[in-house]
Order: sequence, then structure tokens, then C-alpha cells
Amino acid sequence: MEPVMQLKSWIEESKNIVFFGGAGVSTESGIPDFRSQDGLYHQQYDYPPEQILSHTFFVRKPEEFFRFYRNKMLAPDARPNRAHLALAELERAGRLKAVITQNIDGLHQAAGSREVLELHGSVLRNHCMRCGKFYGMDAILNSVGVPKCSCGGVIKPDVVLYEEGLDMDTLNRAVNYISRTDVLIVGGTSLTVYPAAGLIDYYRGRKLVLINRDATPLDGQADLVIAGKIGEVLGEAVGL
Ligand code: APR
Repeated sequence: MEPVMQLKSWIEESKNIVFFGGAGVSTESGIPDFRSQDGLYHQQYDYPPEQILSHTFFVRKPEEFFRFYRNKMLAPDARPNRAHLALAELERAGRLKAVITQNIDGLHQAAGSREVLELHGSVLRNHCMRCGKFYGMDAILNSVGVPKCSCGGVIKPDVVLYEEGLDMDTLNRAVNYISRTDVLIVGGTSLTVYPAAGLIDYYRGRKLVLINRDATPLDGQADLVIAGKIGEVLGEAVGL
């Protein structure tokens, strides 16, 4: 059977689907991913982007951190694409239980998804490091230099930086969903960053679907591999 048709039938047979995704889900919304040829980590900066997006760099060079962060991590004009909309439709139809994402752009929620586990946090949430006050993305967008709270403290984005740990409750919930799901659809991720990529090992079913433009370390283990644009593949499989 043609791969997308196989995906379509697995979707239509199940009411217990989980999606696990990465930056490749948002490239069709105009947000570059990290490791593709045109990705963020292949662009030239004074320091490697992975170094800039680290806790050490945030502490030692906050001005430079926020300049990079405002320029490269915020996409206020990005809108959900067919992939986000297809997943929201699957949840609405009672087939998809949760979206587990490594992305921080909030586009799954903007598309209407309700159960979204953000393993690496979100640019939409920011907190003062001194008093804990909440701030939205605008507080970062509409400030210059190091954003400061009304109390004088530094406003830090709720995004997991390198060297920082993931939220344990979110991780545990993700393990729970993945270990119980019937169909696990993995897409738009190079599966190279841990512990996120390691979550796939908790899947116990035999309908592991991998939708990715480039090869990934998981290709040999997947039950169905579809190389292509995830917006088109999910859109077609869901009939959007
Ligand atoms: N359709 C399908 N696949 C795509 C598309 C698309 N439209 N666009 C890109 N891809 C694929 C690329 O082939 C690549 O394999 O998505 C993958 C994106 O991989 P990465 O850029 O490594 O992004 P991701 O896997 O999400 O990175 C994980 O790394 O730096 C950290 O915290 C950051 O969450 C990020 C994590």
C-alpha cells in the first residue's frame, strides 16, 4: 500500500494516536529549523548558536544572548501550517491524545491543539528571575538589551537552554502518553537531542510512523517511513 494511504488507514483505525515533533513541523510556517542546510546552526555567528542558547552564555553575556534570541528565536508573524492544523483536527475528532513537541513557538496551540506537551518550553512564557512575575512575548519583543521586570529583576524566557534540565512533570506525562499509545507519529525532527529523542524508546506498539525530509537514526526501527514535507503528508492523510 502507498505509504500515505497506509498512514491514513492507521489513523482511521485508531482513537489513540500521539504525535512527537520538532522544528521541521514549523519550517512550512517560515521558521527555520536548526540542522538542515538552511537551518539556524549552519548560519555564521561570533559563537556557535548552541553555545549562545546555553545557560552559561545567558548568565555571562546576557546582552548578546537577547540580541540573538530576539532576532532568531521569536517569530511573531508565524502562523500554523497544514501539519499543525491536521494534528488539531485529529484531536478534535477524538483520534489524537497529545502532541509532544520540542518546539517553543506555540503554533500547535494557535492551530487549536489542546493537549500539547512542550518539552523545551515556550517563547510565549517569560518570568522575572527575582520576583517571578509573568510576562508575555511582547515584553521581550518590545524591549532592548536585557529585559527588566518592574522590580528590576531580569526577565528570563521559559525556554530550556542547553545545560538546563527539562520539566520533570512534562517528561513523565510524555512517557505516559508514548508508552500507552497505539500509533506513534514522529515528524520533523532529526532525533539527535536528548532526553527528548530518547522518549521514542518508550513506544511499545508496532505502528511507529516517521515523517521527515531527511534521514534520521530511527529510520531502521520505524514501521512506516515517509520522506517528504510533513504539512503535505499529514494534510493528505487527514484530508485537510
Ligand atoms: N517536512 C518534514 N521534515 C522537515 C521539514 C518539513 N517541512 N523541514 C525540516 N524537516 C526535517 C529536517 O530534515 C530535519 O531532520 O526536520 C528535522 C529538523 O531537525 P532539527 O533542525 O535538528 O530540529 P529538532 O529535531 O527539532 O532539534 C531538536 O535541538 O537545538 C535543539 O532545542 C532545540 O528543540 C531543538 C532540538
